[in-house]
Amino acid sequence: MYRRTFLAGALAAPGFLRAASERRYTWAEVEKMLSRGDVKGKLGRDDLPTPALLLDLDAFEHNVNKMAAHAKSHNRALRPHAKTHKCPEVAKALIRAGAVGACTAKLNEAEVFADHDIRGLLITTAVVGPYKIERAVRLAKKNRDTIFSVDNSQNVRDLNAAAAEAKLTLNLAIDLFITGRTGVLPGTPALNLAQLIESLPNVTLAGIQAYAGQASHVTGFEARRRKSEEVMAAAVDTRRVIERAGISCPLLTGGSTGTYNIDTQIEGITELQPGSFVFMDIDYRKIGGQNGEVYDDFKNALTVLTTVVSKPTDDLAIVDGGFKAFATDRSFGPEPKNGNGIVYAWGGDEHGRVNVAKASRGVNLGDRIEFLVPHCDPNVNLYDRMYCLRGEQVEAVWQIAARGMSQ
Ligand SMILES: Cc1ncc(COP(=O)(O)O)c(C=O)c1O
Repeated sequence: MYRRTFLAGALAAPGFLRAASERRYTWAEVEKMLSRGDVKGKLGRDDLPTPALLLDLDAFEHNVNKMAAHAKSHNRALRPHAKTHKCPEVAKALIRAGAVGACTAKLNEAEVFADHDIRGLLITTAVVGPYKIERAVRLAKKNRDTIFSVDNSQNVRDLNAAAAEAKLTLNLAIDLFITGRTGVLPGTPALNLAQLIESLPNVTLAGIQAYAGQASHVTGFEARRRKSEEVMAAAVDTRRVIERAGISCPLLTGGSTGTYNIDTQIEGITELQPGSFVFMDIDYRKIGGQNGEVYDDFKNALTVLTTVVSKPTDDLAIVDGGFKAFATDRSFGPEPKNGNGIVYAWGGDEHGRVNVAKASRGVNLGDRIEFLVPHCDPNVNLYDRMYCLRGEQVEAVWQIAARGMSQ
């Protein structure tokens, strides 16, 4: 084993340009620790192979506790969307903080979470076709409280028939077409679907699924509030129409990181399903908060750690993170975690071109640079694991077990 001898000052500025440290283990030792998950008190940030997905546990716990406290103090349930993190350890942390379960976008995300003993699953998109319905029934046998979204009468009949064969009852949520994506139209079309569900013996109405995606990233708090109130009014109204027809509709679930504190002011929304707040990203920071241009209700917990692998000129450093290390679905790229005067530009599949002309200190080969990600959900989906840090120390390695699960 090698003595720990960090270069002077390297640890003074967490998340800043990291100077390369001398190694304190052999790679074979690090590899063994990582494969066993035996990292706590042993590995530090500088021991990690890059590009690496990092989770700042202090920031993450702040985010989890803040959202859980908000939902609780407004008497709403919290079922955070796991499409963001795809990680059973994150879902468990949220449930420990008070969440009633987890939403998933896809059936096999839900299967993974069920295999990790997560209950209270709500699949927010419809399960269509015989194989998926067979899998839905298998999942419901295992986790009876799973809720499946529906927006089509034939699909409801198919689910009912499969449930009858398996001698169980499936919980259904009516997905409302309020985002311009999926769903049945609010009002009478939704009522008709509720009446069909009510009439069939092996399905039961759990409530309404109403995600207002077009409100979540509206820039400016007041404009966002107006949008969410306008869109969610149709969902609240539809729930009333269904209940007035004598059909119990306990759940109205929706909301996002951008509207969490708007939707808890709307009477009739029973449950929040935000996702990005656990990690945050540049996209969300741009939407503006109640008190300023930067949306900072939640902290940046997610970063990608890179290493300078080439220094072709004084002003240019090349890092080992490109299109495969960062999601590229936004019009802007990664930003250094703490500013520090450097500017990232895409450098291809494997590389980033970092302009260091105005860097607040020299940048050398082997230095580590940590970046905020443009969009957290697809970024997480690029990695098998996230390294969870407490300060400079790696406290745990969490598997992103549902990574790539989009079937
Ligand atoms: C159905 C549904 N609910 C909730 C969310 C969570 O939104 P956010 O990550 O903006 O909090 C999403 C995100 O796309 C979603 O598709």
